Amino acid sequence: MRILVTGGAGFIGANFIRHMLASHPEHQLINLDNLTYAGNLENLKGIEDLPNYTFVKGDICDRQLLHGLDFDGIINFAAESHVDRSILDSYPFLQTNIFGTQNLLEHAKKRGCRMLQVSTDEVYGSIEKGLFTEESPITPNSPYAASKASADLLVGAYHETFGMDVLITRCSNNYGPYQFPEKLIPLVISHALEGRAIPVYGDGTNVRDWLYVLDHCRAIDVVFHRGKAGEVYNVGGINEQRNIDIIRKILTRVAARTGAAADGFQGLIAYVKDRPGHDRRYAIDPSKMEREFGWRPMTGFEEGINLTVDWYLENREWWKHIISGEYMQYYQTQYGGRLTE
Ligand code: NAD
Ligand code: TYD
Repeated sequence: MRILVTGGAGFIGANFIRHMLASHPEHQLINLDNLTYAGNLENLKGIEDLPNYTFVKGDICDRQLLHGLDFDGIINFAAESHVDRSILDSYPFLQTNIFGTQNLLEHAKKRGCRMLQVSTDEVYGSIEKGLFTEESPITPNSPYAASKASADLLVGAYHETFGMDVLITRCSNNYGPYQFPEKLIPLVISHALEGRAIPVYGDGTNVRDWLYVLDHCRAIDVVFHRGKAGEVYNVGGINEQRNIDIIRKILTRVAARTGAAADGFQGLIAYVKDRPGHDRRYAIDPSKMEREFGWRPMTGFEEGINLTVDWYLENREWWKHIISGEYMQYYQTQYGGRLTE
C-alpha cells in the first residue's frame, strides 16, 4: 500500500513514520509536510534513503500538488498544534486544520481510499468528573480545539454524505522524543537544563492525561489497518496528572540524571498568569480500543518520562538549535509580559 502520511516531519508524525517503517516494511510511505516552524527533517534522520520512504515538501491545502501524488491511503497528522499559538493568531489553525483536512478528504474521495484523521481529546472540551467517551459532546474551547473539532465534523459529514472510508482517532496529550520544546514536558526539561524559569499557568492544578508517543503510534497503526469506516476511537494513557506534579517529577529525574541535588531545579518553578480559557481537565476512556483491538498503553509514566528525559539529555543539539531561532521570538511574545527571568 502507498500511504500518504501528512505532517510526518513533526513530533508524532516522525515517530509514526519510524514506527511504520520498522513494523510494516511492506508499505510505501510518502511524507507530505510543508515544514512550518514545527516541522523538522532532523526528526527523520537515518531513514531518508530507505527505498520505501519519500519526502515531499508541500502544503495539505494545495489542490494541484495532491493531484500529482499517487497513494491509496491517507493518515493526516498535519496541523497547527499548539493551543497558546492559536490564542495569539488563529488564522493558520483554521487554514491548515480545517481547509487542509477538507482538501485531503476531497482527494481521498476522488481516489476512493481510506483516510484516518488524527484528532485530539481537546475537541470534547473540559470535563469536571468522569471520562470522555466517543459519544461525549463536542464542545471545544480554544481556537486550536475548535479547528480540530471542525475537521472532525467534516470527516463525519464526508462519511455520511459520500459513504467514505474515514476514521478518527482522538488522543490525549503525548510526550516523548522529537516533541517541539514549546509543549509542557520538553519545555520543562530544556528549561531545567538551561537553568531558566519554568512557567506554570494558574495554580498548576489543571489535569491532563499523558500518553507516551509510541503507544499513540501503535494505536493509529491498528486503527488504520483494522478500524471500521465512520468510527471514532479514543486513545489515552489512563494516566491523569496535575501539571505541577508532572513538573516536579520531571525536575527530580533531571536532577538525578545530571547529578544535581534532588530539589536542585525546583526553585525554577514560576507561577504565571493563566492561559485564557484554560481547560481544567482532560480525561479519556480508551476502553473501545482495548475491546476492539486489544490495544492498551504499554509504557508506564515513569518509564516514559525517564526515556524522554534521557532523549533530551542525549540530543541537546536538536533542541538547542530549535530554541535559538524563531522560537525565541515566539517565547518573548508568549511569556515576556508574564515572566521576568
Ligand atoms: P507538530 O506541531 O509537532 O507537527 C505538525 C506537523 O505538521 C509539522 O511537521 C508541520 O510542518 C506540519 N504541517 C503544518 N501545517 C501543514 C500544512 N499546511 N501542510 C503540510 N504540513 C503541515 O504536531 P504533533 O504534536 O506531532 O501533532 C500531530 C497531530 O496529532 C496533529 O493533528 C495534532 O492535532 C494531533 N494530536 C497531537 C497531540 C499532542 O499531544 N501533541 C495529542 C492528540 C492529537
Ligand atoms: P501543552 O503542552 O501546551 O498541551 P495542551 O494545552 O494542549 O494540553 O500544555 C499542557 C498543560 O500544561 C496545559 O494545562 C497548560 C500547561 N502549561 C503550563 O503550565 N506552562 C507552560 O509553559 C505550557 C506550555 C503549558
